[in-house]
Amino acid sequence: KNKSPLLVGLGDGTFNVVASDAMAMLQVTDQYLELHDGEIVILTRESATVKTLDGEVLERAPYTAEIDASDIEKGTYAHYMLKEMDEQPAVIRNIIQHYQNENGDIELTEGVRELVSEADRVYIVACGTSYNAGLVGKDILERIAGIPTEVHVSSEFGYNMPLLSERPLFVFLSQSGETADSRAVLVEVKKRGYKALTMTNVPGSTLSREANETMLLYAGPEIAVASTKAYTAQIAVLAILAYDIARATGKELPFNLMPELARVATIMDSIMAQKELFEDLAERYLKTTPNTFFIGRGLDASVCLEGALKVKEISYIQAEGYPGGELKHGSIALIEDGTPVIALISQPKTNLNIRGNVKEVVARGANACIISMQGVEHENDDFILPHVEPLLAPLINVLPVQLMAYYAALARGCDVDKPRNLAKSVTVE
Ligand code: M6R
Repeated sequence: KNKSPLLVGLGDGTFNVVASDAMAMLQVTDQYLELHDGEIVILTRESATVKTLDGEVLERAPYTAEIDASDIEKGTYAHYMLKEMDEQPAVIRNIIQHYQNENGDIELTEGVRELVSEADRVYIVACGTSYNAGLVGKDILERIAGIPTEVHVSSEFGYNMPLLSERPLFVFLSQSGETADSRAVLVEVKKRGYKALTMTNVPGSTLSREANETMLLYAGPEIAVASTKAYTAQIAVLAILAYDIARATGKELPFNLMPELARVATIMDSIMAQKELFEDLAERYLKTTPNTFFIGRGLDASVCLEGALKVKEISYIQAEGYPGGELKHGSIALIEDGTPVIALISQPKTNLNIRGNVKEVVARGANACIISMQGVEHENDDFILPHVEPLLAPLINVLPVQLMAYYAALARGCDVDKPRNLAKSVTVE
């Protein structure tokens, strides 16, 4: 094994198997043997011998996978992506359960608490959807915990490391825990003697094993290439981390997180029960268009990046996620008659500004779709989401854009779960 993930699945004495992760082997075994970089495994039907490159035999106990083969079945769903979007309320409840003690207080491990208490700045390092979740996490960490936070794309950070603070804490966000770009940064960070915390959905994954501490996402296996439930899980876990830091440092808390997360889960249920409305919106705005914009401000702008990524990767529409105020500095030139512009509006502070931006694009012929939230809604908005604390709005307003991306891909005849040119875990740099 050399950098890329490799795992041995132990059979019943009549076979053994290797693959890059447990999910590929769950149907045939739940017993696994971990391999570390620089080790080789000699596999026969009956035996698996792990050795160093010098030929020294290593004793390695197998472990039992914590996921069940039934967790990775599609059941009655047409696609994994649809199933995984539907699972989001349950994932949020699962996270609450795992990170809350019997008094309803947030409970993190001592290891995680120690790590964050030593830090003067957080560097979130991630790719794709995890990066987009990191952008939301930055706002939450800064506003709740008061800790300066930067978010970096792994493939850039590895080669262009910025000036670091004195006591940086690296937070690796990764659904799979196997993303090679992020792992390369982790290796470098460790070489420099810094501490790292991994937030991942996969216990025992490379990024989890190699970081000092792990916070799990408890989202259950995510199979569809388009990440959905991992995004909302990452935001919820980052919020929990922010609240714990704030409590430890005596910061005033603007609202009680765990009950608000529970309310978010209930609201998510209600949104998922109205899927056909988003199927209609996808039909109206995205079915035939060659391009689209998602616009918002502040946290909504971060969700717009995720909306655009979802639409690009599964429906192959050229999509841009943009801060509304930035359009006039160049990209508004792309707006022409009928260009769909999907606006997310949940933040009271910038409600009027983003509505002004919508007017600007409509004046140039755009076909605007407004998804707003109670408290900042206007009567003619296309969909009005129930109110949640504005800081947690990304957990709610990402659902309509995930659903619209899904239905747009279906309407355009795309392979939703396995989009072209993409892999679920990106294990090459
Ligand atoms: O497993 P990771 O979270 O590290 O994966 C990062 C990206 O490759 C991933 O989020 C990718 O962008 C998804 N396909 C997006 O839906």
